[in-house]
Amino acid sequence: MSIYGDYIKSVIRTVPDWPQPGVNFRDITPLLQNSAAFRKLIDSFVHRYQEMDLDAIAAIDARGFIVGAPLAYELGCSFVPVRKKGKLPFKTISETYTLEYGEAEVELHSDAFHEGDRILVVDDLIATGGTMLAAAKLITRSGGQVVETATIVDLPDLGGADRIREAGYSVFAVCS
Ligand code: PRP
Ligand code: ADE
Repeated sequence: MSIYGDYIKSVIRTVPDWPQPGVNFRDITPLLQNSAAFRKLIDSFVHRYQEMDLDAIAAIDARGFIVGAPLAYELGCSFVPVRKKGKLPFKTISETYTLEYGEAEVELHSDAFHEGDRILVVDDLIATGGTMLAAAKLITRSGGQVVETATIVDLPDLGGADRIREAGYSVFAVCS
């Protein structure tokens, strides 16, 4: 958890029973609308990663892009999108995964990284961990070194972060 974790958590809204009954949806739009909060969020990531000599930020479609792009800009490293199936035009590699509410597939351009590049994977939220784990596996398969996986929110009751760690990847969450 980051130094701003409690504050960031306080500006994230929980919407019960969306998009289906039983899901408590963590809505980050109030955080994004609050410029001071959004700056603190990006600063939390910059603070953690500025000395880690990263080559690229791999950000997960779509909400991960919101964090990944300013972070890549601030850290002076490249930005690589990990996209939902069918969105990337060049040669891709893919992984399927299950969501808290469905099944999906993520893709990465096969030339996105150089062998051994130091990669941070970012997304807005870890629920079951399926999305983040699929993205981390894709990067490993493409020759990148996953330095850490990072998220704004971790939902620990769903066990996603544990699952990602059990697969051998480090996890950082700003709040849970
Ligand atoms: C959400 C969220 C994460 C993922 C987390 O994405 O942004 O990527 O679910 O769930 P998991 O840990 O169970 O895999 P979603 O697929 O809803 O897409 P979006 O970012 O396009 O809204
Ligand atoms: N993605 C998967 N589960 C989610 C949740 N509970 N809130 C926001 N995004 C999600």
